[in-house]
Amino acid sequence: MSPPLSAFFSTLASLPHLLPNILDPPLHPWDDPTHVYAGNMAPVDEMEPTDCPIIRGKLLVSLKGVYIRNGPNPQFLPPRALIIHDGDGMFHSLRISDGKATYCSRYVKTYKYLLEKEAGFPIIPNIVSGFFSSGDIVRFVIATAPKILTGHFNLMNGFGVANTSIAFFANKLFTLCDSDLPYEINVTKEGDIDTLGHWEFERKFMSNMNAHPKVDLDRKETFALTWSLTFPHHSFLRFDENGVKQNEVHISSMNQLSSIHDFAITKRFILFHETQMVYSLGKVMTGRGNLIEYQPNKISRIGIIPKYATNDSEMKWFAVPEFNTIHFINAWESEEEDDEIVLVAPNVLPVDNIFNLKIYASLEKVKINIKIGDVSREIISPRNLEFGTINPGYVGRRTRYAYLGLLEESPKMSAVVKIDLETGQEVARRFYGPNCYGGAFIREKRWGKQQKL
Ligand SMILES: [Fe+2]
Repeated sequence: MSPPLSAFFSTLASLPHLLPNILDPPLHPWDDPTHVYAGNMAPVDEMEPTDCPIIRGKLLVSLKGVYIRNGPNPQFLPPRALIIHDGDGMFHSLRISDGKATYCSRYVKTYKYLLEKEAGFPIIPNIVSGFFSSGDIVRFVIATAPKILTGHFNLMNGFGVANTSIAFFANKLFTLCDSDLPYEINVTKEGDIDTLGHWEFERKFMSNMNAHPKVDLDRKETFALTWSLTFPHHSFLRFDENGVKQNEVHISSMNQLSSIHDFAITKRFILFHETQMVYSLGKVMTGRGNLIEYQPNKISRIGIIPKYATNDSEMKWFAVPEFNTIHFINAWESEEEDDEIVLVAPNVLPVDNIFNLKIYASLEKVKINIKIGDVSREIISPRNLEFGTINPGYVGRRTRYAYLGLLEESPKMSAVVKIDLETGQEVARRFYGPNCYGGAFIREKRWGKQQKL
């Protein structure tokens, strides 16, 4: 392509970024990026490995390890931020060794990040908050078509971010987001952070893996979800301990693309959750807001299928009305009752307000008898708790304690609390302090010998 023509296409691609969004609905505090990305959630610059001065006490020479986290940290502030995961993803590490601590932060070098960094302006919107009106779709086409035509944007490379969670499986450290494949990360001996690349266990248009895969500690296998715009919309994947894909089972008993971010495993089963939230392009096109639509007449249900099922025929579905979760805490097979599965998860109330500041999450225990179909529910804690986790050694096993964020103003959490899942009592808490908020967290004792840090 001749230089003048290439310059013309480049200018065309930048137009959506330069034009004011005068037709867009007004911003509210919950989707105003200057409100969402404020305080300790504000984006920060990269920092090369830097030794941290010790303010008090000393670090034992025998203390070795790395504290890691990732966060949204948008390269360019989006015009609207319905969810905090509306950034490229920045990985932070604090390496402790030889009596000193070294901090580093680096953007995850996703294909989208590199594409937009080179262009100098945003090109690919977030799938949830970037498509809010038909104007957004037009802008997306104007921004991407010239890049595709000039060969500067290869759709097969994925166009998601890597900001939602961190996972360690198949002897690799990953940062993940539902809209793309995981990106592999390495923290070097010097404390620097390298993006090793896209983990392409398959290469097809819009390949993706959910942000919360589950590792079966008995067999060292990893289970994950994947979604598709075309039917069948949902599938689950199984990888061996080396990360080699062993199986993919299409969930053909789900006929809509649902908003599924998490799932659970037990010793023998996988649990899926079909909520009242589905993806709807029609909602965006008719100016009724983002892609995720609340369907009040839809009955929420839990699907349970053997881990080693080869197709959807072994799936059993159980109605659990108005049970809508974002995250599961855990699930296990009951030791007291035959054929009973226990599931613990925060139920989001009301789910149609999921993207504003007023969501409320009530921690529930659901018991399902998979033989006779009985479903019973109890509220473990009515407090506003979400983004929970457990000791990963108990994934799929009976669990006594969970660690959850106390939702102050969604999705900002003012504290982490430890809840006894049998009594509902709070066992411990830690507040972050005034104007300081946390996100989702993981609880790790250690990574074991497989760690490569
Ligand atoms: Fe999550």
